[in-house]
Order: sequence, then C-alpha cells, then structure tokens
Amino acid sequence: MLALVLVLAVGSQPQEQGLRESHHLNWNKFSGFWYILAVASDTRGFLPGRDKRKLGASVMQVHKAGQLKVVLALNRWQGCQAYTLILRKDGKKSVFRNTLKGVKGFRVLSTDYSYGVVDLRLGRASQTSKTLLLFSRQNVSSFLSMKKFADICEILDLTRGAAVLPKDASCAHTILP
Ligand SMILES: *[C@@H]1O[C@H](CO)[C@@H](O)[C@H](O)[C@H]1NC(C)=O
Repeated sequence: MLALVLVLAVGSQPQEQGLRESHHLNWNKFSGFWYILAVASDTRGFLPGRDKRKLGASVMQVHKAGQLKVVLALNRWQGCQAYTLILRKDGKKSVFRNTLKGVKGFRVLSTDYSYGVVDLRLGRASQTSKTLLLFSRQNVSSFLSMKKFADICEILDLTRGAAVLPKDASCAHTILP
C-alpha cells in the first residue's frame, strides 16, 4: 500500500500529502536497538563535516500506553551526543510529540521492522525543521531500505540535504542496551 502511494506520489508530483505514516505499526516490534545509516535534513549544520560523520543509533522503548522512550546517538559538530526523550502519542494518529522538548512530530513512514524511515519534525513556535532518518537493525543497508529512504527524501524535498553515514559504529555503540 505504502509502496503504491509512493509510486503514485513520485510518478505525478512530489507532495507531502502522498505520504501516510504506518497506521498499524506494532511499536513492540519496532522497539529495541537501531543503527541510523542515513540522514537527510533541511537544517544547515544538522550534520557535521564529512570527516566527523559516523553511524548514529536509536533505542526505542514503549514506556507506557501511548508513550515512547527514544534515545538517539548522533555524531554532531561537538562529537558524539546522546539524547533521551519521552514522546506522547497524538490522539488516534500515529504521531508522537514532545513539544516542550522541541519535538513536533516523530513518525514512521515506512518499515518492515528490519528497517524504518523516520520523519522527525523539530522546532518551536512556527519554526519547524524536517529531518529524515534511515533506521536499520544491521549496520549495512539493504537496497530496498535505501530506495525507500531516497524516494521519501524526494517527496519531502530533502534530497539535497541527504547523506549516507560512514560505517564507524563508535558513537552508535555508546547506547547499546
Ligand atoms: C557490522 O556488523 C558486523 C556483525 O553484525 C560486524 O562484524 C562488523 O564489524 C560491523 N561493522 C562495523 C563497521 O561496525
């Protein structure tokens, strides 16, 4: 279904309305440790210079009903940074938020539980940045997962800000459960 939506959206005219988050996502199955293999952002400086890039990671945990605990490790300009967030589900929608911490939206746009394309909206008040993360259970990507990520980058107009991260797991492994 999502594949069809993407094909239609790319085939006609890239538009965000063509994307649907995975409504029936099994969050228990989506929990646990993920590598972050690629990042795309419309925020200048979200990623450090090429020589400082490393694989990222995330640990997802169902905290309580309707709440997710998300740990993210990313190599930024100042080195390896870990962030911990509690996100709350927004009503019936599959969007999680923590607006006090500047997270306006966290949603999974595509997954088969071996990979995930995660849409992260950050910001305060009327300012919002878009960031797309490619999650993978393994430290290497499959062709399918990279294609999904690239297709969604195109739909969200993030292709220019996209980068595949170098295979250095030293930052990612700082949050191994
Ligand atoms: C990727 O994972 C495999 C085992 O799953 C390991 O042997 C390899 O060293 C890892 N590569 C990196 C760059 O961490």
